[in-house]
Amino acid sequence: MEEKIKKRIDSLISEINNHNHAYYVLDDPKLSDKEYDSLFRELEELEKEYPSLVTDLSPTQRVGHPVSSGLQSYDHAVPMLSLSNAINDEEITDFYKRIKKWLNNSEVDFVAEPKIDGLGVSLIYKNGILERALTRGDGFKGEDITHNVKTINAIPLQLRKSVKTPTFIEVRGEIFMNISDFNKLNKSRELLGEKLFANARNAAAGSVRQLDPQITASRNLSIFCYEIGGSEDIEFNNQVEMLDYLKSIGLPVNPLSKKITSASEMIAYHHTLESNRNHIDYEIDGSVIKVNNYKRRERLGLRSRSPRWAIAAKFKAKQAESQIIGIDLQVGRTGVVTPVAKIKEVELSGVMISSATLHNQDEIDRKDIRINDFVLIERSGDVIPKITQVLKNKRLQNTQKFSISDYKWPDPDCKIERIEGEAAYRCINPNCKSRVMGILEHFCSKNAMNIEGMGPQIVKQLFEADLLNSFDDIYKIKYEDLINLDRFKNKSAMNLIDSINQSKKTTFPRFLFGLGIPNVGQHISKIMDKYCNSSLEKLTELTVEEMVEIDGIGETVAIAIQDYFNDNNNKNIVESCLQLGIEIIPTTYDTSKMTMLNHKVVITGSFESLSRSDLKLRLEKLGATVSSSVSSKTSVVIVGKNPGSKLSKAQDLSIKIIEEKDLFEFLNED
Ligand code: IVH
Repeated sequence: MEEKIKKRIDSLISEINNHNHAYYVLDDPKLSDKEYDSLFRELEELEKEYPSLVTDLSPTQRVGHPVSSGLQSYDHAVPMLSLSNAINDEEITDFYKRIKKWLNNSEVDFVAEPKIDGLGVSLIYKNGILERALTRGDGFKGEDITHNVKTINAIPLQLRKSVKTPTFIEVRGEIFMNISDFNKLNKSRELLGEKLFANARNAAAGSVRQLDPQITASRNLSIFCYEIGGSEDIEFNNQVEMLDYLKSIGLPVNPLSKKITSASEMIAYHHTLESNRNHIDYEIDGSVIKVNNYKRRERLGLRSRSPRWAIAAKFKAKQAESQIIGIDLQVGRTGVVTPVAKIKEVELSGVMISSATLHNQDEIDRKDIRINDFVLIERSGDVIPKITQVLKNKRLQNTQKFSISDYKWPDPDCKIERIEGEAAYRCINPNCKSRVMGILEHFCSKNAMNIEGMGPQIVKQLFEADLLNSFDDIYKIKYEDLINLDRFKNKSAMNLIDSINQSKKTTFPRFLFGLGIPNVGQHISKIMDKYCNSSLEKLTELTVEEMVEIDGIGETVAIAIQDYFNDNNNKNIVESCLQLGIEIIPTTYDTSKMTMLNHKVVITGSFESLSRSDLKLRLEKLGATVSSSVSSKTSVVIVGKNPGSKLSKAQDLSIKIIEEKDLFEFLNED
């Protein structure tokens, strides 16, 4: 009997999977919704009656339990790189010429694909079964979103049988939400008084990063797959072959990809896609053009964060028309003054806009931008909208010119000066309120200390209530201080104290980035974290000479870091933060794979089997620090063809030398 039931269950699963494939992947449904529902219900009922016959691969198991411990981070086995951009036809042609030149002018095939504006993900299938899904994250580490990805019907839990089912394959693609589904979602959120998503990409990202898969399952997400990160016992010669294979194993592949061979075809593809953009029910923000042949890709290799063999040609940003109703000045955390146009509220790609940056006085003068002018506003991605054009033919009589130097500052101590050699002005008042608030806002922000609920409005309120002046003040705030302030109630006060406490356990890169040292962004903070083994003490002891030796750190950054810690006031604030409970949790790299931790490696010459940047990435993954010059502290020099003077310097200093023939053994990859 059970045998018979098992057979029926298997057949229902396969029918449902076939339908999902036809509906979500091929866009060619064979069953009505009613027929599908009845199959699904029959399966659910049988499984309820025979729980021992339920398997993880059953479509009834797509929505599992919430993950209680938050999203876990995992290393990507192969980094998920980004793409360099081409912003006009000329840059597309330059890409074509570069590739031709590097490949000695031979015939080159390319594949052009739409650039999906979604969320990059990696899907890992072992023996045909979906084992794990990770977000792209920072390219090296992603978050585990398997529980949510399983709810996406377009993604098979088990790959369809094809020529071969590989023991391992890592597929990369973009999860997105259809524009029509996004609009429906926002409408229903509006009715429920919930916060609206700014665009379809944010909605998709928000949906995929839920802890509760039930929410993701209700969101109608989809995916297009476009690359593989790695595979075992299956190999491909080129992109066309690989995309065909992905299709054959049941993964959705964008139908608009096209093989092309010339620069003019690249440009034609890009423009056709751009003019059809509004007829497609998902957001695309450009085209991606890739070298088709994989051996050639290998030869072209990688730059530090993007491959040489591909380019993202971006569409022009969408524009909207509005009118300037005033100009304000904003002082950023570095004191730089930015004029901001207040405009009549207007919708631009789904977002309401009421201000736009004017960059600096030169820009205002060059474009002759005046208050009351009609203007075109542009916004690409998440960046602040900007004014691209003044509609001079619409100019009214009552326009007013604007000059930063005539601006009446609310704070009489504020004085602005032009920065020498630059178009920018800076407020030289060290106690400039806007500037101090900017510094504090930055410290609390998402990528820094990530203090939830401590946005610009609250920082301003606490600053004005004299509760905040420097970072350490944040950790002195008590419930009693908050509860007496406007807008704070018991719950909001407790929540804020809670988030402040939670932020105390932090990481080195977050804290360093939060300090707002000029030119020390997230990337630099991560480099310093690795070099200093998450020790602030070590950071403060480094000299400029030592810092410039670190790969990726230039003199400007090194001087800025040293200046910062040479200032006693800064030192005291950092010290006080630590005393008030900030704890830097050391970054754990998977040290079992880090066989070269604390090794300083120098690369010289070029290599046949891999590019220098690829080699650098591999070394860094093993924990090594790759630096650009040989010194007595260098552990190893890797020598390729045509090495420079670094080889002789290494020989002089008796430093270990590795040649290309021994390289893979050295990297433990033979
Ligand atoms: S290929 C090594 N193809 O764009 C490059 N990426 O800016 C691998 N994206 O991180 C990416 N559509 O998330 C590729 N057809 C496409 C794409 C695509 C969207 C995203 C992807 C990537 C980002 C790069």
